Amino acid sequence: MTVFNFCAGPAMLPPEVMKKAQQEFLDWQGLGVSVMEVSHRSKPFLAMVKECEASLRRLMNISNDYEVLFMHGGGRGQFAAVPLNLFVSGKPGVYVENGIWSQGATVEGKKYLDTHAIDIRCDNNGQFDIVPVSQWKLPNDAAFVHYCPNETIDGIEIFDVPKHATAPIVADMSSNILSREINVNDFDVIYAGAQKNIGPSGLCIVIIKKALLEREGLVKPSILDYALEAKQGSMYNTPPTFAWYLAAEVFKYLESIGGVKEMESRNKAKAQVLYDYIDKSDFYNNKVAAHCRSLMNVPFWLKDDSLNEAFLSQAEKAGLVALEGHRIVGGMRASIYNAMPLEGVHALVKFMDTFAKENA
Ligand SMILES: Cc1ncc(COP(=O)(O)O)c(C=O)c1O
Repeated sequence: MTVFNFCAGPAMLPPEVMKKAQQEFLDWQGLGVSVMEVSHRSKPFLAMVKECEASLRRLMNISNDYEVLFMHGGGRGQFAAVPLNLFVSGKPGVYVENGIWSQGATVEGKKYLDTHAIDIRCDNNGQFDIVPVSQWKLPNDAAFVHYCPNETIDGIEIFDVPKHATAPIVADMSSNILSREINVNDFDVIYAGAQKNIGPSGLCIVIIKKALLEREGLVKPSILDYALEAKQGSMYNTPPTFAWYLAAEVFKYLESIGGVKEMESRNKAKAQVLYDYIDKSDFYNNKVAAHCRSLMNVPFWLKDDSLNEAFLSQAEKAGLVALEGHRIVGGMRASIYNAMPLEGVHALVKFMDTFAKENA
């Protein structure tokens, strides 16, 4: 049975990449050992790392004004690293909040600096909505403006960029990096935990304007120090080598299918199939205003919560796994990251339709 995995993260990876990793698991590049068993400072590993960065730079069109770091600690590691590195005496960190992860960033930020949180969520006739980006009231004297362009749990995506911010813009793209074309130059720092669109957990990618590396920030653990990591080629300590290798394979694969442009069109097609079905159904409901619905994470609710368990167990039997919504918001959530094929979304919709008819 084909299984489609809708997990929000760690999420499914492209089968092509998984197969290649399997083939070379015990013998990487003819060395007779696994990539996990070689030194991160060995020639083949360093060559892999160099190509990995070059590939990401091509995919996202990252200029030489930016450093690309491959760090530990996932997204939450960056919740601490951002304020620790970007702190400026007397200036608050501005945190734009549109869901659970951006609020989490504020909570962590508060430990290190004064924060100024701006809640941009609003109600639109019973739907979750956000204040248009151009209307965000961003103070001028900030150390940085942090926001989360894709709220993984809430299913809210922000497609505009707050270009009116005068402070450096920091974006947590953990759940939508490489899913659609963006202009990296619109941002000062982009970070993303790997476990959705990049590779296994443990790795976090940070794309940072080189000029920001000059900021002294606060006293910080060396492994969260952007300038030090940049100087050390992201190898101040032993990096998560297997995750790094797999990320390189995912980037290679993305390039081979036509890059982020092609991915974006596939992702839009997938999301449309699912949202269109939900919208015309009386049985399911997505509560997010149409213009800010996530292309990656689609939360939906059954009209009767008491059917949730049956829905999940029957879905699993049909090979559609990990559809349970986040425990904080309940309901269901289909995460349809880059690796999810359109076929998986069609299978989900077909199952949802049958379930609705049987339980109407
Ligand atoms: C948008 C976003 N930010 C941060 C995190 C936290 O990531 P991690 O578990 O890698 O710390 C997540 C996790 O799902 C996320 O979706």
